[in-house]
Amino acid sequence: MFVKNTWYIAAWAHEVKQALLARTICNEPVVLFRDKVTGRAAALEDRCCHRGTPLRFGEVVDGGLQCGYHGMVFDCSGTCVHIPGQDMISQRAKVRSYPLVEKDEFLWIWLGDPELADTSKILDYPWHNDYKKWPHRHEMYHVKADYMLMVDNLMDLTHLGYIHKSTIGGNPKVHVEAQMVVNPKESGLHFIRWMKNSTPPPSYSKAVPFKGNVDRWQEFEYVARPWQHHSMEWRLGCRAQCG
Ligand code: FES
Repeated sequence: MFVKNTWYIAAWAHEVKQALLARTICNEPVVLFRDKVTGRAAALEDRCCHRGTPLRFGEVVDGGLQCGYHGMVFDCSGTCVHIPGQDMISQRAKVRSYPLVEKDEFLWIWLGDPELADTSKILDYPWHNDYKKWPHRHEMYHVKADYMLMVDNLMDLTHLGYIHKSTIGGNPKVHVEAQMVVNPKESGLHFIRWMKNSTPPPSYSKAVPFKGNVDRWQEFEYVARPWQHHSMEWRLGCRAQCG
């Protein structure tokens, strides 16, 4: 069972171009695409209302997404705007569409009651919009495991000193002795792990030729509101020591 009246990340914005992207989100088959003219991203149920063909096998054409079976075209709202060989289009010729919002390089989808889709509840992640100050790149990969194991992994960063010893981890002792600042919040939990006056781990040294020790910190926020969404923010920081 899934919480439906909440925002979920459906994809990175860059993943959805003219080609169709099919995803299963909360067990619902969804197809994502961009309108050819406006560039607006949209999400439809991945099932044609005519004969049930998955729309992922269609293509983006002028006016919307064209089903690959008999050529009906659906716009971003799921309304059928073209049926080959006939002028009359029934009002019932419609595919379910989902509220979709592009924000901070994410595409957020709402699978529940569209009337409740309050866009002000979408998490802010402004760092994605500042490549100069926060250069970054991102990818998507599948984890063949319960998603709660990922939550466990990211909430317990003591593993960094062991699994990631040769990259972003470094000396395990530094992690074990990290100074924790924990702030329980109404929406979840925020914490910072300080590793002051420590040797920079291999990945950091590779990126910046630090001279001597650094002050490191890891800042993490877990958001878990049943009426909103589950998400996690994770930021790593490092600064050279003065003097
Ligand atoms: S199944 Fe989609 S147009 Fe016929």
